[in-house]
Amino acid sequence: MSFKPNSISALDTTYHLHPYTNLKAHEENGPLVITRGEGVRVFDENGKDYIEGLSGLWCASLGFNEPRLVKAAQEQMASLPFYHSFSSKVPDVTAKLSQKLVEITPDGLDRALFCNSGSEANDTAIKLAWYYNNARGKPEKKKIIAREKAYHGVTIASGSLTGLAYAQNGFDLPASDRILRAGCPHFYRYGIDGESEEEFVTRKAEELESLILAEGPDTIAAMFAEPIQGAGGVIIPPKGYFPKIQAILKKYDILLVADEVICGFGRTGEMFGSTAFEIEPDMMTLAKQLSSGYLPISALMVSDTIYQTIKDRSAELGVFGHGLTYGGHPVPCAVALEVLKIYEDRDILSQVNAVSPYFQERLKSYADHPMVGEVRTTGLIGAIELSADKDAKTPFDPTLGIGPSLVKKCEEHGLILRAMPGDCIAFCPPLISEEPDLEELFARFDKAMGEME
Ligand SMILES: Cc1ncc(COP(=O)(O)O)c(C=O)c1O
Repeated sequence: MSFKPNSISALDTTYHLHPYTNLKAHEENGPLVITRGEGVRVFDENGKDYIEGLSGLWCASLGFNEPRLVKAAQEQMASLPFYHSFSSKVPDVTAKLSQKLVEITPDGLDRALFCNSGSEANDTAIKLAWYYNNARGKPEKKKIIAREKAYHGVTIASGSLTGLAYAQNGFDLPASDRILRAGCPHFYRYGIDGESEEEFVTRKAEELESLILAEGPDTIAAMFAEPIQGAGGVIIPPKGYFPKIQAILKKYDILLVADEVICGFGRTGEMFGSTAFEIEPDMMTLAKQLSSGYLPISALMVSDTIYQTIKDRSAELGVFGHGLTYGGHPVPCAVALEVLKIYEDRDILSQVNAVSPYFQERLKSYADHPMVGEVRTTGLIGAIELSADKDAKTPFDPTLGIGPSLVKKCEEHGLILRAMPGDCIAFCPPLISEEPDLEELFARFDKAMGEME
C-alpha cells in the first residue's frame, strides 16, 4: 500500500477525482470539504458557513435540510428499497410520479421515462427521436441541432450536444457528425450595431432556417434547447425568440426538446421555462429541482404522438429495448413526489415571485459597476457578466481568471457562486430563499466585489 500519500487529517480527499476542476492546481490546494447543510447554507469541515448562491449545482430548491424529504426517503427505504420498471413491472411510487409529472407538465406531454441524470435524459431523448423517425419510415431524418453555449450534459451523446469547449476539449467530442450547431440567442454578445432585439430574433430564426435548408430538412430529427442557457452563462432569450424558432421547426417537421434540467419547477417564476418562454415541446427533460437534488433522478417527458409511434414499433420489434437499472428507482421517486407536494403545499411559485423582485433589483444594481458588462435576470436566476471595457463590451482575457478570482473571494466571504465562461458569475439561490437570506447573499457579494476593485 506504499502508493498511498500520508494523510494529514482524518479525512483524506486524495482519492477523489474531481469533476470540473483544474486537477493539477487542485492537488496543491485541495477541495473545500462540505460536511452539512441548513436552509440556504452549507458548512465546511471547520464549521464555516456559506450561503449557497447556486443551490449546489442549480439543484437544492428546498435548501439543504428539508426533513420531509428525509422522512420520505426513510419510509420508502423501509417499504420497497429497490425495484425496477423493466418487463411490465413498476414500483407504485414510480407510477405515481409519472402520473403527477404528466399532470403538471405542459399539455401534450403524456408519458414519463425515468433516468438518473440530466445527461442520461438527454441521451434518451436523442435515442427516442431516432427510434421515432425509424418507426415512421424516415430513417434519414437523424441530425440533431443544438446551440452554441448549450449545456446538455457530458455523456458521449449529450456531451456532443453541449456547445462549450471546456466540456469537449480533449474528449474527442462531438462524437458524431449528426450534430448541427445553431447560434446562441444572446443579444448583448451577438446583436449587431443598430439591431433591435426583435431584428436579432428574426435574424436568429433566419439563420436557423438557412442551416436547416443547407443540411436538408429531411435529415434533421430534433433541436435541443434550454429555455435559459444556464452553464453557458445564464443566457435569457429575447422576447419572441422561441415562438419564431418553433414555427420554423414545425414547418420542417423537426422536434423540439426542451431541456428543463435547470428551469424546471419554478426557477423562472413559472413552473417550467417552456411556459415562461412560450415553448411547446415535443419532449422535455427534467432533473435537479425534481428531487431538490437530494437523490439522483431525471425524467424524459414524451408527447403522445411520439409515444404512439414508439409503441407500435416496439410491437413490431418485440420490445422497446431501452431502460436503465435504476431508472425510476423507488427511493428517488418517493423523494421527488414529496418535493412536488412541498412545492404545492408551500405554493413555491408565489414564494419565488414574492422574493424575485428584490433579488432582481439587487442584481441589477451592479449594472453600473465599472467591471460589469451586463446583468441579466428573471425569476430567481441571473448572472453578472464581467467586462474589461464596458462600452466596447470587451471581455477580460480569459487567462487572467477574473471570474474565478471573484468566485474565490466570494468563498472567502462565505458565499458560493460559480464562474461561467466569459467571466459570467451565475446566481441561482434556493427557491426557499427569503429576503433576509438574499440580503446576506448580496452583502457577502458586495465585500468580494469591493476587493476586486
Ligand atoms: C440544462 C442542463 N442539462 C443537462 C445537464 C446535465 O445534467 P447531469 O449533470 O445531471 O447529467 C445539466 C447540468 O448542469 C444542465 O444544466
